[in-house]
Amino acid sequence: MQIVLLGPPGAGKGTQAKSLKSYFNLIHISTGDLLRKAVSENTKLGVEAKEFIERGDLVPDKLVIELINERLSKPDVSRGFILDGFPRNDSQADILDKMLQKKNIILNYVVYLEASEEIIIQRLSGRRVCRSCHENFHVKNMPTKVEGICDICGGELYRRSDDQEEAIRNRLKIYTEKTESLVDYYSSQEKLLKIDANFDAPVVFEKLKSVLL
Ligand code: AP5
Repeated sequence: MQIVLLGPPGAGKGTQAKSLKSYFNLIHISTGDLLRKAVSENTKLGVEAKEFIERGDLVPDKLVIELINERLSKPDVSRGFILDGFPRNDSQADILDKMLQKKNIILNYVVYLEASEEIIIQRLSGRRVCRSCHENFHVKNMPTKVEGICDICGGELYRRSDDQEEAIRNRLKIYTEKTESLVDYYSSQEKLLKIDANFDAPVVFEKLKSVLL
């Protein structure tokens, strides 16, 4: 199974991708995670991408495509995958189509997670991430047992720099301007499945399973 998860920031793409990954034994490919890893490792690509991410702007296509092409060339991809955060504009979608065609891979579904702006802002402003294992939590929706400490590895939690109010507003604007048109793009390819993602994560996952099984 090859799936793209599409949706505004905070719709729950990363959260649902983790559940899909373990339920269907798929690979989870998140461009956001790959980029943040490159930034933390101070690679050439990470240095170039850093300021775009912090502002909530899209990282230039060339850099993201290089990352995706490299990841999709690894052998474990034959297990099936979930693409989370890619593509994010028409030109990335077009390149993805060509890349998959070349590798003889069929994209089965594009799942569009829909969430209201109020829910998105509540989720992003309360998100906390572990510095060590990178697990996501939420101060209200998914609180840790000890405030500020990761339940899984005991690492310190932090707030992503792009989860500050100004960057969130910019990310939402960019989503509307550049990414939302992909709903029509994949709808015309008859690949789009729409899910109302305004509910708690386990409820959304049940909805997801019901459309994929
Ligand atoms: P990326 O990391 O992809 O960020 P995003 O798309 O803005 O998505 P988020 O991770 O913020 O949200 P999500 O939908 O995954 O929600 P999550 O499950 O985490 O990208 C970051 C940046 O990298 C971009 O701004 C850009 O600069 C760059 N980039 C990435 N890909 C790119 C590309 N292709 N091209 C160019 N640039 C690119 O959940 C959020 C919070 O809500 C969590 O705290 C979670 O616990 C909580 N939550 C989730 N679901 C629920 C639920 N159902 N109920 C209650 N709480 C929930």
